Amino acid sequence: MTESTATLQTQAAAGLEGVVVAESSISYVDGQAGRLVYRGYAVEDLAERSTFEETSKLLLDGDLPARGDLEAFRRRLVAERALDPRALDAVRGFPADADPMAALRTGVSALGMVDPDRGDDGPEATRRKAIRLIAGLPTLVAALDHARRGEDAVAPREDLGHAANFLYMLRGEEPDPEDARVMDVCLILHAEHGMNASTFSARVTAATLSDIHSAIVSAVGTLKGPLHGGANQEVMNVRRKLAAGQKVMGFGHRVYKTMDPRAPILRRFSSDLGERAGDTRWYRMSEQILEAMRSDKAIDPNVDFFSASTYQALGIPLDLFTPIFAIARVSGWVTHVEAQRAHNRLIRPRAKYVGKRDLRYVPLDERG
Ligand code: CMC
Repeated sequence: MTESTATLQTQAAAGLEGVVVAESSISYVDGQAGRLVYRGYAVEDLAERSTFEETSKLLLDGDLPARGDLEAFRRRLVAERALDPRALDAVRGFPADADPMAALRTGVSALGMVDPDRGDDGPEATRRKAIRLIAGLPTLVAALDHARRGEDAVAPREDLGHAANFLYMLRGEEPDPEDARVMDVCLILHAEHGMNASTFSARVTAATLSDIHSAIVSAVGTLKGPLHGGANQEVMNVRRKLAAGQKVMGFGHRVYKTMDPRAPILRRFSSDLGERAGDTRWYRMSEQILEAMRSDKAIDPNVDFFSASTYQALGIPLDLFTPIFAIARVSGWVTHVEAQRAHNRLIRPRAKYVGKRDLRYVPLDERG
């Protein structure tokens, strides 16, 4: 066996920790300072002043849109909210007890098969598909939640913003403006996060020149894991884990060595929403866990920790927490797919072989 590449590392980088796999101008995660920046803008400013629609446009194009461009983008998203009936039929055929992330993964795959631009992977068609994915994921998640209860999907409304319309489709009634704003900010905070695991898997798929729906299916499958997006629903099982001395989901981060900058914003929401609903149990429990983790382990919370109690306070079913992460992160994923394709090179790392060598093939009859 010859290992001939000049740049070949001799040591495997477990978890690719510290390995730089691409240049990116999409977002910057400063793990030491606890800062997150999308296209140059601090996530706190976007959370305070932007909307998910505007943030998605910023991610896709690299600049804050002018008023007319934003309005046109918003209208495009509204126009793409309704799903192809064949995709909705597929959702109705899913088992009622399916994990919503598995249903979402399969649903995105179904959307790819019926997309009007299927088979065209050029940049214009890919952008159209990206916009359909951003617009369609909330409809898909709300539809699969209704389908598993044997209910019909609630058709999207054109007069509501992206976040408000999602809550409307989920609950079947228009949300109050505070709930809609909280959801909007949650989507902004989760929209993009550097070379995280799901984004990386989307880029690996895109780099083979596969289509954008395949890339997003890869990403959804990766987000599903409890060490990544699945952590936000696992947070609710935290007490049991603390008692068993296991890892507590919602804490720790590969990059942040201090408080995740998204956590304080969600912490405030979770407290405000609890007070407004007259039920601060989850928020108070979260604060107790936070104190315990800090004093026992000196580990800070990540974005998933307070998003869990925020979604709980919004009355969202536990197993939809991770699909909502996907509704937000899809903007980052599609932006990375486009960026990967703009300067594409197949992503094909190496493994350090540590297995057996030079064995003699033993015919089946001679094996013991
Ligand atoms: N609870 C208890 N101990 C922890 C935790 C935790 N949540 N996270 C890290 N540690 C400890 C870990 O046991 C290890 O200690 P030691 O060195 O004594 O063995 C040390 O901290 C380093 O941990 P690691 O697992 O080697 O670090 P990593 O960079 O490989 O893992 C992580 C990062 C996010 C996978 C990990 O912190 C974790 O499993 N957290 C819980 C899952 C979670 O909340 N994931 C969401 C991440 S943020 C949102 C997203 O991007 O999806």
